[in-house]
Amino acid sequence: MQPKVTVLGSANIDLVIRAKRMPNKGETLIGGAFDIFTGGKGFNQATAAARLGADVTFIGRIGDDVFGEMLRSAMDAENIDTRFVKTDAESGTGIATIVVEPDGDNSIIVVPRANMCITPKDIDTAEDSIANADVLLLQLETPIDSSQRAAEIARDNGTIVMLDPAPARSLPDSFLDKIDILTPNTSEATVLSGHEINTAERRTVAAKALQKQIAQDGLSTVVLTLGEQGVLLCTPSETTHIPAISVEAVDTTGAGDAFSGALATALAKGNNIIESVKFAIAAGAAAVTVLGATPSMPTNEKIESIV
Ligand code: RIB
Repeated sequence: MQPKVTVLGSANIDLVIRAKRMPNKGETLIGGAFDIFTGGKGFNQATAAARLGADVTFIGRIGDDVFGEMLRSAMDAENIDTRFVKTDAESGTGIATIVVEPDGDNSIIVVPRANMCITPKDIDTAEDSIANADVLLLQLETPIDSSQRAAEIARDNGTIVMLDPAPARSLPDSFLDKIDILTPNTSEATVLSGHEINTAERRTVAAKALQKQIAQDGLSTVVLTLGEQGVLLCTPSETTHIPAISVEAVDTTGAGDAFSGALATALAKGNNIIESVKFAIAAGAAAVTVLGATPSMPTNEKIESIV
């Protein structure tokens, strides 16, 4: 049976500028190439899961505008179920302005717009698709009350709840205690745990502290992503380091989304956590070799070509 992943999250249009560096305060710089891509952490992760073989349902909101139409067509092209993607009459489609530097590093400003209008009622209409999924995948570019409602439905029905806590913000215990798998990077882990992470020991302390804050039954796993240094995996029984795969970076935008979408898909297929994290690391590495967020979400063939 095809693994089922339901994603509740953002869908944005990314306005991407390539520049030799970020401008200083008050400075005007002439940039290089300009592109418009689909994006949004939610839609990127849904795309990754769909390209890697999952049956994906997306829950979200877009505006009644040309950007919303672009996103709906892109969702259809990826065979993503859009029955729970609402077109919002009041707010425009979410936008991200992204600057990519020559080494592939990026800086992003997101204007969420329709993404922040998702309500718990929207989630209730999608109850069956959450209850029947193997994995529910969440991020933090949509309202917390809606994500929390989705997590409640998932946990009542045995669906694994995975949260990519990006962009960073602190979260109530009533939400964290419904998460089975938490995948912060170091700055997100600092915000969530209150622990500064400046040494390898401090990373372990923060990951262990977070592991105690999430749901204790089920997988109860923190996957602390360390960029070029790989991943620190913290389960109830062990803390393990898994190394990164080194590639030539073109654009790091969306690498975390490829990681999350791949991790959710591998778990939904029934793989164990270590195999799933290794697969997700390869997916993240594959994504940094391609410009753009959604365009860089890899297929299984692309992942096989880099491992
Ligand atoms: O993670 C990358 C994504 O963050 C971009 O696609 C942008 O839309 C923002 O949501």
